[in-house]
Amino acid sequence: MKRKLLASLLCVAMGVTTMAGATSIFAEEAATEEAAEAEKEDAADAAEETAEEAAEVIDMEGVDVENTKIGISIYQFADNFMTLYRTELVRYLTEELGFKKENIIVQDGKNDQAEQTNQINNFVTDEVDVMILNLVQASSAPQVTDLCNEAGIPVVYINRQPEEAESDRWEKDGIKATYVGADARQSGTFQGEEIVETENKGDINGDGKVSYVMIQGDPENVDAQYRTEYSVKALEDAGMEVEELLIQRGDWDQAKGQQIAQDALTQFGDQVEVIFCNNDAMALGALQAIQAAGRKVNEDIYLVGVDALTDAVQNIVDGSYTGTVFNDYFSQAQSAAAQAVKFLKGEEVAPVNMVDYVKVTADNAAEILEKIK
Ligand code: BGC
Repeated sequence: MKRKLLASLLCVAMGVTTMAGATSIFAEEAATEEAAEAEKEDAADAAEETAEEAAEVIDMEGVDVENTKIGISIYQFADNFMTLYRTELVRYLTEELGFKKENIIVQDGKNDQAEQTNQINNFVTDEVDVMILNLVQASSAPQVTDLCNEAGIPVVYINRQPEEAESDRWEKDGIKATYVGADARQSGTFQGEEIVETENKGDINGDGKVSYVMIQGDPENVDAQYRTEYSVKALEDAGMEVEELLIQRGDWDQAKGQQIAQDALTQFGDQVEVIFCNNDAMALGALQAIQAAGRKVNEDIYLVGVDALTDAVQNIVDGSYTGTVFNDYFSQAQSAAAQAVKFLKGEEVAPVNMVDYVKVTADNAAEILEKIK
């Protein structure tokens, strides 16, 4: 817990001091892995010290923590990853920043934009001071932003990135809106690299090409689009020929991931060398299908996801999952809180604030597991 807290503190410091391109403690440590063991220890100690210093960086002076109301809406409570994110966000706002639990209103968008827009209208009626929104449809950002702007309420979008034209508009027109997330191109690239780093670069049967199945999240979402594109691109950039056996949407959902993988394994059998999943929930579903089909991950098939859910990382430690990518919800939640505080204090906020992803493979899975548990 102490470790988690320190990590949190460091992440916030970075979110505040570097705005765009915040680096998490996990990324820092991944980098130090290449250095000597002793140096690694020093770096970790230094990171902890920085974390302690960072505790003072978010200056809450002038923020009325007793009375500030924050409206939060999450696209869907049933999403595994967003549940971790939401829990951390509320914990951080209340336990670290001192806002009152009763003033933090958290709504379930139920994967329905109309329902969520209603909630946002209610936040306006309730006169919340700031909103933190994980939109059901990122494409509704222009309307939602106008709604909030007209009511004079700043908005921090999280997880589902509005189009660049929209964030450019905020900056150009001085609208109090911002986005906090992670660049999905990076996570896709890391997934592809994890396959390239295996002994046969994903070409298990030695036929000169990597034959893969792609299980996608909701394709409206840039995370799904970019992870799909950049995972394959990383293989191609490494000089591998690729063959797409199947691409299908699993909407970030474990049961759908399992069904798609099961059907693909029935249809294509041993031809399937890699299953790429846009997130771990779907990859954990695919793993069940792989095991039911009598296949063995890292021996006759590779499997990669994104998020670093505990079960996924545990499976990497156990050798039954090739890799994942840590979608650093600690840093993202804390940066979202930091941007909200800046709005409350009337400070300048950059239109886009990105947090780094971290590659998770057998090399660092045990260490990452310790941190996320
Ligand atoms: C995560 C998914 C999640 C989605 C929700 C993505 O960044 O990787 O697990 O379902 O966000 O929008």
